[in-house]
Amino acid sequence: MTAILLLLWAVSVCALTTVPPYTGRTIFSPPSSYIVPRTLYARTLLIPQDGADQNVLLATWENYSPEPPHVWFPIFRSVDLGQTWTPFSNVTDTQNGWGLRYQPFLYELTETIGTFPAGTVLLAGNSIPTNLSNTQIDVYASPDKGRTWKFVSHVAAGGEAIPDNGLTPVWEPFITTFNHQIVLYYSDQRDPLHGQKLAHQVSSNLLTWGPIVNDVALPTFSDRPGMTTIAQLPNGKYILTYEYGGAPEGGFAVYFRVSSSPLTFDSVAGSVIRAATGELPTSSPNVAWTAHGGANGTIIVSANSHTGVFVNTALAAPGSPWTYVATNATRSYTREVRILPSNNQILLTGGGTLGGSANSVTGTILQLP
Ligand SMILES: *[C@@H]1O[C@H](CO)[C@@H](O)[C@H](O)[C@H]1NC(C)=O
Ligand SMILES: *[C@@H]1O[C@H](CO)[C@@H](O)[C@H](O)[C@H]1NC(C)=O
Ligand SMILES: *[C@@H]1O[C@H](CO)[C@@H](O)[C@H](O)[C@H]1NC(C)=O
Ligand SMILES: *[C@@H]1O[C@H](CO)[C@@H](O)[C@H](O)[C@H]1NC(C)=O
Repeated sequence: MTAILLLLWAVSVCALTTVPPYTGRTIFSPPSSYIVPRTLYARTLLIPQDGADQNVLLATWENYSPEPPHVWFPIFRSVDLGQTWTPFSNVTDTQNGWGLRYQPFLYELTETIGTFPAGTVLLAGNSIPTNLSNTQIDVYASPDKGRTWKFVSHVAAGGEAIPDNGLTPVWEPFITTFNHQIVLYYSDQRDPLHGQKLAHQVSSNLLTWGPIVNDVALPTFSDRPGMTTIAQLPNGKYILTYEYGGAPEGGFAVYFRVSSSPLTFDSVAGSVIRAATGELPTSSPNVAWTAHGGANGTIIVSANSHTGVFVNTALAAPGSPWTYVATNATRSYTREVRILPSNNQILLTGGGTLGGSANSVTGTILQLP
């Protein structure tokens, strides 16, 4: 009995919830044999309880290792909120013979979906051959918190992996749960009416996927809304951020839409994000919401253009101000915002810059005021 109580006590005090802020902590430093950009597009997952430890972080990224063998998504694990990392597993293409190349995304099921219990860890990513002839968004699942992985389903198949209007690739998966179904969002160049649009498909079992539903599909063919990420707000609404190639502000300005359902973003208008002090975020945004920062909590948006982040404490209500907050993190293409368990610290994870020859995967903690 005493032993059990001691064990429970040890488990509860060992759950690390805050960490002394750190800057540019290395998650993975690629060997010189890696092909430029070596690493890019980092993503993490916070797992509250993984059976062995609490508040576990997993990280993955685009990993430009020499081929053969085909590229894969590495999974690294941290049990100290990102202060140290160890290699944990690899997610490898078992279906196409192409490799898992671009745009990984990690997600933990919040409820049972089909035969997959709550707590199953998903990885969605873009399987692409070395010659970039095809794009294929595939989903893999781990029944044991990232230790082992199995293929689940193909979601969307597209043409060559080149971001030119008129070609037909698919890109950049993002997952959420709504009404007991999984929603998988992605960028889609296959619709002849749109150089690129944002769309989603819904599944109740992760195996079969419903029709393509538009989220942002703009009337001008050459416009390129891209890179869906979504956060749920405490008023029951959802915020979608995206880069807008063709925006009147220029340079893939970051836009957002707020909708009462994450399935109906297509019916609401988008607005640009611009800080009250004038900063205009552009390219590859990432959004998260934390309960910290007052009655509305805080929406936090990172973008490729800035080392700082853009925050809003008014639920992104129309006309509400965005504030630019400096950080010590470096810029990264599609730098991720991860809310840590204390809600007043965020982890910014980057895989480096587009074309960067010295990229590595790093994390920085921002302490929120
Ligand atoms: C991932 O795969 C690479 C290449 O095969 C291998 O060197 C590495 O040890 C693997 N990592 C893990 C954690 O299994
Ligand atoms: C590109 O690679 C794929 C997969 O290996 C192959 O099927 C295809 O024939 C290649 N295409 C060209 C043009 O080489
Ligand atoms: C919460 O957001 C609303 C707008 O949605 C705003 O009017 C209000 O001032 C905000 N409250 C706080 C405490 O910031
Ligand atoms: C940036 O680093 C400096 C020097 O270590 C530190 O004093 C400052 O608080 C940091 N700023 C942020 C926003 O974390």
